[in-house]
Amino acid sequence: MAKDNNKKVVYSETVDLDNTNNTTTPTATENVQKLEEENKVLSRNLRRVEEESAMLRELFNKTSAELNNLRKPALLVADIVTIVDKNKAVIKLPNGNKFYCYIVDDVKNVSNGDTVLVDQKSLNVVQKVDLGEGLEVEKYVIIEKPNESWKDIGGLGEEINEIKEVIELPLKHPELFKKIGIQPPKGVLLYGPPGTGKTLLAKAVARSTDATFIEVVGSELVQKFIGEGAKLVKEIFALARRKAPAIVFIDEIDALAATRMETGTSGEREVNRTFMQLLAELDGFKCLDNVKVIGATNMLPILDRAIIRPGRLDRLIEVGLPNEEGRLEILKVHTKGMNLKNVKLKELISEMVDFTGAEIRAVCTEAGYFAIRENRDHIGQEDFLLAIEKVRREEEEEQDKKFFG
Ligand SMILES: Nc1ncnc2c1ncn2[C@@H]1O[C@H](COP(=O)(O)OP(=O)(O)OP(=O)(O)O)[C@@H](O)[C@H]1O
Ligand SMILES: [Mg+2]
Repeated sequence: MAKDNNKKVVYSETVDLDNTNNTTTPTATENVQKLEEENKVLSRNLRRVEEESAMLRELFNKTSAELNNLRKPALLVADIVTIVDKNKAVIKLPNGNKFYCYIVDDVKNVSNGDTVLVDQKSLNVVQKVDLGEGLEVEKYVIIEKPNESWKDIGGLGEEINEIKEVIELPLKHPELFKKIGIQPPKGVLLYGPPGTGKTLLAKAVARSTDATFIEVVGSELVQKFIGEGAKLVKEIFALARRKAPAIVFIDEIDALAATRMETGTSGEREVNRTFMQLLAELDGFKCLDNVKVIGATNMLPILDRAIIRPGRLDRLIEVGLPNEEGRLEILKVHTKGMNLKNVKLKELISEMVDFTGAEIRAVCTEAGYFAIRENRDHIGQEDFLLAIEKVRREEEEEQDKKFFG
C-alpha cells in the first residue's frame, strides 16, 4: 500500500507533476484540487476544439455550396410572351426566338411580359426574376437638367420660336390647347448639317420648361444593345413618364428610322423591331401628357416617313447653316467671356462663310490658344484670323478623308 502511495499519480499530460517528486504524498483534498484543475483545463480545450469544429463545418458547407453552384449550368434569361395555360407559356429568348415550354410548379404569379430564368436544355421556366426595371435603362441614357439656355444660342430665331410653340407652350400652358380644342404635336424633328445647334436647341427647351432631359443616341440603341433595343425604347418612355415633365431627345434618329429595306438579315429585323416599338410608344401617349419627343438627324431624305406621320414627330424644323447675321450672333455668344482687344467681329464673320456654329466655337477656342502660346492675356484680330485658317484647313482635311479614305 505504502509503495502505491509513493507512486507518482499522472492524471494527464496537461498537468505538470514535476514538483510532486520531492513532496510528501498528497492528501486527498490536494488530489481533488488537482483533479478539478485538470478538469478545467480539459473542458477549456474541449470548448476550443468544439468551436474550431463548428467553424470548419461552416467553411465546408460554404465551399460545397459554392462547388454545387459552379457545377450547375447557367440559366437563360427570357421574357414571357403569353401564358398559355396555368403551367405553359410562350417565351422569347433575347435572340428573338420563341418557344413553347413548361412553367415549373414552384414558380407562381408569372404574367405576360415578365422576365424569367429558363433551363438551358428544357427551357422550362424555373424562376421569376426582377432585374430592376428602370434601373437598367437609367444606365443607358443620359438624364439631366441641362444648363444651356436660349441666351447661349446665336441666331436661329425662327427655329427657337417654332420649338417654343411646339414643345414649351403645351408643357407650360396645356389649358390653352384644351380651350381651343386642338392637339399639339407630340414632338418635333430637327434636321440639318452637323454642328448647327440641334442638340443645343433641345437642351435649351428642356431647361426653359424645367423638364427632365433624357438623351438617347439612335445608333447606340441598335448597335450596343443588340436584342434589347425594343425593350429599351419601351423602358425609356416608361422612365420619361415617371420623370415627367420630360423631353426624350433621340439623336441620330436615322439609325433607327432609316427607310426599311427588306434584306431580312437579323440585324435588320432587330432595327425594325426597335423602330416599331418607337412608333408604338409615340402612338401610345397622349398629346398633352407631359412627355415630348425631339428627334435629330443629319439625313432627312433617308428617313422612314412613318416617323413623321401626323400624330408622331409631325413638325419638322430645319436647322441650317447660319447666315451672316446668325454667324455674328453665334460669335458674340462664344466671345462673351473672352478678353478681346481690338477685335472686329463683323470683319471676322465675312471670313467664315459656310461655317457651322460648332466651327465658330472651335475658332474662338483656337484663337485663345494662339494668345496663350504667346503668353498674352488678351486675344487680338490676328489670333482669330489664324484660328479661322486652322479650322478651315482641318475641315478640308476631314472632307478629303471622307472622300478619298
Ligand atoms: N446657333 C448656335 N449658337 C451657339 N453655339 C452653337 C450654335 N450652333 C452650334 N453651336 C456650338 O456648337 C456645338 C455643337 O452644336 P450641337 O451639338 O447643338 O450641334 P448638332 O446640330 O446637334 O450637331 P450634330 O448633328 O453633329 O449632333 C454646341 O455645343 C455649341 O457650342
Ligand atoms: Mg447633336
